[in-house]
Amino acid sequence: MSGAELRDTGQALALLADEEILVASAASKRHRDFAMGRTCARAALAPLGHGEAAIAIGEDGAPLWPPGILGSITHTSGYAAAVVCEVGRFSGLGIDAEQVGGVTAKLWPRLFNAVEQAQLAGHADAAVAATLLFSAKEAAFKAWRLRGALAFRDITIDLRQDSFTADHAGRRLSGRFAVDGAVALTIAWF
Ligand SMILES: CC(C)(COP(=O)(O)OP(=O)(O)OC[C@H]1O[C@@H](n2cnc3c(N)ncnc32)[C@H](O)[C@@H]1OP(=O)(O)O)[C@@H](O)C(=O)NCCC(=O)NCCS
Repeated sequence: MSGAELRDTGQALALLADEEILVASAASKRHRDFAMGRTCARAALAPLGHGEAAIAIGEDGAPLWPPGILGSITHTSGYAAAVVCEVGRFSGLGIDAEQVGGVTAKLWPRLFNAVEQAQLAGHADAAVAATLLFSAKEAAFKAWRLRGALAFRDITIDLRQDSFTADHAGRRLSGRFAVDGAVALTIAWF
């Protein structure tokens, strides 16, 4: 598995021509996020011999990776990351970054099941835990290539010390997480 991350310092970022046309008319934030994500993806792909590849957008919004590669991209304000691997190493990869504190208690009933909400209610740092739960669901959603908000809500996360498992419709995957300042980062694979 190969990964890369980037913090936005206002540095110049170059998209390839086949990527630029995908966001040519996008708002500047979307353009910047997309460029941050593609820059990370290319850096992650380089050790696998695909550092020059243009990464288009699939019909479901997921990145279209070079043949024989799978991976995932994430971006949140001022931060982006990507992970990739050769097909066969894993069957699915998902990565997600979130700003800590964005998942307020008002959102919990929409995002979390009763067990998850009970865990959060007694948690010493519920803001961080809620962010990690949400991020883990997003990473699992991407790794499984699910569709729709309902599927997302049906993902159950079991959060441990620095890892988690996700269950959905009889399937399970593993994940790891880290919190660095205001950014929570999760990676899921199966
Ligand atoms: C698609 C989704 C997973 C993106 O996650 P996010 O936290 O909003 O945004 P991130 O920056 O982490 O990820 C965006 C990247 O995910 C990737 N992506 C988009 N759709 C994807 C999909 N269906 N599967 C896998 N990856 C996807 C793309 O690379 C995208 O970046 P890009 O457009 O610049 O290439 C999310 O918006 C989503 O739809 N979740 C489904 C359930 C839902 O609606 N949850 C909300 C609360 S109920």
